[in-house]
Amino acid sequence: MIHNQRESVVKLLNKDVQNYINANLHTDLHSLLLKKSPFSEVSMQEIVQQIKGKQVAEKKFPFLLKEGIIFPPQLNLEQASSEKTALYKSEILKGQKFIDLTSGFGIDAYYLSKNFGDVTLVEQNTELLEVVEHNWGILGRKARFINQKLEDFLNENQETFDVIYLDPARRDQNKNKVFLLEDLSPDILEIHKKLLSVSNQVIIKLSPLIDLKYLISVLPSVFRLDIIALKNEVKEVVVFLSDASKKGIICNCVNLESDEPAFSFTFGEEENARSEYGEPEKFIYIPNNSILKAGVFNLISEKFGLKKLHPNTHLYTSSEKKDNFPGRIFEMEVVDSKSIKKKGQFNLISKNYPLKPEEIKKKYGLKDGGNDYLIFTQSKKGKIILKSV
Ligand SMILES: C[S@@+](CC[C@H](N)C(=O)[O-])C[C@H]1O[C@@H](n2cnc3c(N)ncnc32)[C@H](O)[C@@H]1O
Repeated sequence: MIHNQRESVVKLLNKDVQNYINANLHTDLHSLLLKKSPFSEVSMQEIVQQIKGKQVAEKKFPFLLKEGIIFPPQLNLEQASSEKTALYKSEILKGQKFIDLTSGFGIDAYYLSKNFGDVTLVEQNTELLEVVEHNWGILGRKARFINQKLEDFLNENQETFDVIYLDPARRDQNKNKVFLLEDLSPDILEIHKKLLSVSNQVIIKLSPLIDLKYLISVLPSVFRLDIIALKNEVKEVVVFLSDASKKGIICNCVNLESDEPAFSFTFGEEENARSEYGEPEKFIYIPNNSILKAGVFNLISEKFGLKKLHPNTHLYTSSEKKDNFPGRIFEMEVVDSKSIKKKGQFNLISKNYPLKPEEIKKKYGLKDGGNDYLIFTQSKKGKIILKSV
């Protein structure tokens, strides 16, 4: 650790400073920033950074709510993975040598390297890596910490690894979010061949907004894709590269913190599958967002024996309930728009329907919430409204 950084960590870990931080965890940070720091050697900005860190940690990585842990600036907190998605990824990895080439705040690295004996973290940001090294000391975890640009590291490196992990920075110079591979740092398209010469398994975390067809077309070595949703919000697309020959790309869709089962398929299976179409029956199925992101619309119909309502409506139906569906299942009936009472309270869903939920709410004078559902959609016969029974 460079001298200044070590000094500033020591000052932040002073008991009085830590007590002040803990006493202000719920104070408005804007007003706190306007105050003068009660400590001559620690600025209010440094204090607020630690408070912000603890607030984020509470939701995203509670394992860091420990005495002695130091938090980096907000951008590094935002870029870090959540403990829950990192835990999912850690369960599918095992080996001897692990390297994270874009360590960042090290959340992914901490979890993903759990089943490895030899761990290396590479990060270009000196202060950030020092914070991680300090924290890993507190957490009792050993690693090699390399403060270098990963391109330079790869040029000098003579070693091979069982797993290489990367979570490229997804922001451009203007801090806007970007979703093309060539706009990421590092540029995966430029280094992927080099990565594959150093490891048989390269794992890259990408934005949920990345287009999967584009991804597969520009990275021919993809053999597996995991689409990770948490409580039905897609958080990560994780891509696995390998030089080994492959029989089609496997895609795993998961919705963490739900009872819904994971769904795995190959893109070839989806291409060969055909949906059966039909009008609504007793049960209506809404696939979760990891399934929708994967675009696995026909295989779902075939595998679960469900009829699809319309080519562009990703809703399915059956007369008998099919359990183990990766999404929500409702018992519903088709209703006439005239039967919808004003001021009725519903959870509104609009899928492949000209009006958005807000517009439907206004048009029918409805209130949000409650236990009942209304789905405005289209079957092959035209516009329909479904109501939960
Ligand atoms: C999205 S963050 C990683 C977050 C990390 N997975 C976590 O869970 O905390 C990306 C990191 O990659 C680093 N980075 C980007 N390009 C790099 C490069 N060419 N060499 C080394 N580090 C790089 C950035 O400094 C940033 O800290």
